[in-house]
Amino acid sequence: MKPEEVLESIEAVAPSKGWPIIGPKRGVILDEVVESQKPSSILEVGTNVGYSAIRMARHLKAGQRLTCIEISGDMARTAIVNFERAGLSELIEVIVGDARSILPTLTTGFDMVFLDAVKDDYLEYLRSVEKLLHAGSVVAADNVKSFSSAVKTYLDYVRNSGTYASSYREAPSNWGTDEGDAVEVSVRL
Ligand SMILES: C[S@@+](CC[C@H](N)C(=O)[O-])C[C@H]1O[C@@H](n2cnc3c(N)ncnc32)[C@H](O)[C@@H]1O
Repeated sequence: MKPEEVLESIEAVAPSKGWPIIGPKRGVILDEVVESQKPSSILEVGTNVGYSAIRMARHLKAGQRLTCIEISGDMARTAIVNFERAGLSELIEVIVGDARSILPTLTTGFDMVFLDAVKDDYLEYLRSVEKLLHAGSVVAADNVKSFSSAVKTYLDYVRNSGTYASSYREAPSNWGTDEGDAVEVSVRL
């Protein structure tokens, strides 16, 4: 299947299954970040069934890589099946476990990081991998509108530390069931 067909198949059942995917509306923001920054190495924290990972990995070329961290073995297994269906398995590594334990052990650099696991822990995730970023690396963080209280310390840091140029990118509701949400996109200076 084409990656786009797999994305549509996930979108079709995500609301009824309760899968908290970024969805098509904010997914476009993720597409734009990948298309403009052209990362060759991406780290995703919180993969669920692989929807956002497929959105990002479909822009990668052979030899480039996406590393996914997901705490749920069941979700990770579903994501792996979806990556196979989308023909993207060769580009994606899935690490099953708690990002708070795994991130400090990573050693390779990343051109892009996508944060989408526990919202209260975004700043901890970022600080754990900051040594792996370079000037121009981009960090995207989902749900910064709907979880504004939980991500407050994170937003304070990326907006005011002088380390990032940060912008707030809002999108309408995916399924018409909420008030929409936003992604914070922060480029390392
Ligand atoms: C919002 S969902 C991710 C959605 C996915 N990024 C997408 O848009 O398709 C958050 C995921 O983070 C996972 N998660 C929660 N805590 C985690 C942790 N400490 N480490 C890694 N993954 C975690 C959850 O199991 C869940 O699948």
